[in-house]
Amino acid sequence: MRSIWQQILDSYEAKVKERRLQNVRMLLQMGDAAQRIMETASKIKCELLILGSRGRGGFKELLLGSVSHKVTNHADCPVLIAK
Ligand SMILES: Nc1ncnc2c1ncn2[C@@H]1O[C@H](COP(=O)(O)OP(=O)(O)OP(=O)(O)O)[C@@H](O)[C@H]1O
Ligand SMILES: [Mg+2]
Repeated sequence: MRSIWQQILDSYEAKVKERRLQNVRMLLQMGDAAQRIMETASKIKCELLILGSRGRGGFKELLLGSVSHKVTNHADCPVLIAK
């Protein structure tokens, strides 16, 4: 799994270079997505977390997916949800 995800990150890295985006840092982590996002946000003293409302899974009739729901409720910094 890790090597598949690493390939995906590498392809994003190529896009970042191609578009000359500044101050982009990518992290590959394992475990519960919401937990990892919130831990990392605290660690780097994140001022604003931006997430999509839904991912690719789940019940589409719900407004928020489980990750965006958990982060919105438990993060200790402001959260912006993009629909
Ligand atoms: N593994 C992940 N890594 C990084 N961000 C994630 C991850 N999973 C979800 N997110 C973030 O949370 C947003 C909402 O995704 P979420 O997983 O909550 O919805 P879903 O996939 O539709 O529902 P569920 O996962 O509960 O079936 C995504 O747009 C993305 O910003
Ligand atoms: Mg999901």
